[in-house]
Amino acid sequence: MSSLPTVLIIGCGSIGERHLRTFLATGRCRVLACDNRPPILAAMAERYAAPTAADWRTALATPGLYAAVVATPAPSHVAIATEILRAGKHCLIEKPLALTLDGMEALTAAHTAGGRAAGIAYVHHFLTEVAAARAFLQTGTLGRVLHASVVSGQDFPFFRPAYREIYYRDRAQGGGAIQDAFTHLANLMEWFLGPVATLSCEAGHQALAGVEVEDTVAVTARTHAGAIVVWSLNQFQAPNETTLQFNAEHGSVTVEYHRRRWGRLARGDQAWTWETFPPAERDAPFIAQAHAFLDQCEVKPTGVASLADGIQAVRLNLATFESLRTGRRVTVA
Ligand SMILES: NC(=O)c1ccc[n+]([C@@H]2O[C@H](COP(=O)([O-])OP(=O)(O)OC[C@H]3O[C@@H](n4cnc5c(N)ncnc54)[C@H](O)[C@@H]3O)[C@@H](O)[C@H]2O)c1
Repeated sequence: MSSLPTVLIIGCGSIGERHLRTFLATGRCRVLACDNRPPILAAMAERYAAPTAADWRTALATPGLYAAVVATPAPSHVAIATEILRAGKHCLIEKPLALTLDGMEALTAAHTAGGRAAGIAYVHHFLTEVAAARAFLQTGTLGRVLHASVVSGQDFPFFRPAYREIYYRDRAQGGGAIQDAFTHLANLMEWFLGPVATLSCEAGHQALAGVEVEDTVAVTARTHAGAIVVWSLNQFQAPNETTLQFNAEHGSVTVEYHRRRWGRLARGDQAWTWETFPPAERDAPFIAQAHAFLDQCEVKPTGVASLADGIQAVRLNLATFESLRTGRRVTVA
């Protein structure tokens, strides 16, 4: 039998199956597939020859178990992750970490006491063009970022045809554009610029058939470091495009996901300098994330979002909802 450590994948739905496949692709671990729907387990056994378990609590006691990935819908993330960390296993948790701040103290205590890795799967950190742009901005060549914008959208019915049948249709299950998509880009901007201090939000259901949750979000914010940030996103537009722009004291940086490139233009330059990457499979950033998480388990520095980052992202979501509800600008708690 292989001596590779075992990673338990809890929830093998859409993203859990991707984690299963991409952790296997690292060649650094075996996987144990867990789901409470028997047909899903049968599919994981058939497609990947993966061993399976119907109950995650029982599976945590599997000899040789090293780490677990929590890929169930968001309301169960904190309770499951707390038990994983209490069992002394490393833990990677899907976004959003939670819908409320309930249970965060116990989760944080379990993390601190166990000394194991705990990361949040904000996978945009592992897009090559994003990471390259961030590394350049961090050199400080362009000075402080004063203003940043995110413009993003995709045809969700094409990319996630089951959206009406899954958690997405219900905010209480983690659904809607704020908890599903905005949280990725909100966390991303905080990864670049530090935490948001205040924000205001406009959002609503504009187009997606068969659901009533918001599919369109506009947020303006100011970070503690003083940058003004604007997000504009929807989940119905035809083009699958995301553009980030950072305007700093001495120039600008742009990232275009859909062209797989990032560019810089210093004040006084006549043209952008671009770095373009070859087209990548959809699994590529998830394989990079799996490697990074396994590195994090070995106490190496990585770009995986921390537990504290995940808790901050929940606070940001809650402030976004409060602003939407009250029509006011809100201070992030
Ligand atoms: N990072 C990304 O790009 C990305 C993409 C999609 C979803 N997500 C996040 O991942 C999470 C799951 O989303 P999804 O789209 O895979 O949902 P999904 O509904 O397709 O899959 C969830 C799976 O969890 C299983 N499950 C639920 N409770 C369980 C339990 N107690 N024990 C074992 N299995 C259980 C379900 O049977 C289902 O198969 C959500 O938090 C979502 O926001 C992240």
